[in-house]
Amino acid sequence: MYPAADLAGAETRLRNFLIFRFGGPPTYIEERGHPRLGMRHGPFAIDAAARDRWMAIMNNAFAEAALPPAAEATLRPFFEHVATFLINRKET
Ligand code: HEM
Repeated sequence: MYPAADLAGAETRLRNFLIFRFGGPPTYIEERGHPRLGMRHGPFAIDAAARDRWMAIMNNAFAEAALPPAAEATLRPFFEHVATFLINRKET
C-alpha cells in the first residue's frame, strides 16, 4: 500500500507524527496539519488482516530496534490501539 516512489517520505511522515504525538517538536503539524488519521487512511483498504500484517511488521521493527523497554512498552500498545481504530473495511 505504501508509495513505492516515496517510501522515504512515508517514513518521515510517520516519524514526525510520532515525535509530535509523544511530546516532541510539532514538525508534523506544521507540514501536514491536523493528523486526521482516520480520514488519511480512508483511501487504503485496511481490513483486520491488513491491520495484523502492519502490526507484525512493526513488531519486527521493534525486535530490530531494541528500544529501551519503557519506550517499547509505551509504543506497542499505542500502535495496537490506533491500528485497530484504523480498520475501515470488512474482511473480504
Ligand atoms: C493498520 C494498519 C496500517 C496501514 C495498512 C497503514 C497504511 C498507511 C499508508 C499506505 C500510508 C500512506 C503513506 C504515506 O505516503 O505517508 C499511511 C500514512 C500514515 N500512517 Fe498509516 N497505516 C496503518 C497504521 C498506522 C498507525 C497505527 C499509525 C499511527 C500510530 C499510522 C500513522 C500514519 C501516519 C502519521 C501517516 C502519514 C499521514 C499523512 O500525513 O499523510 N498508520 N499509512
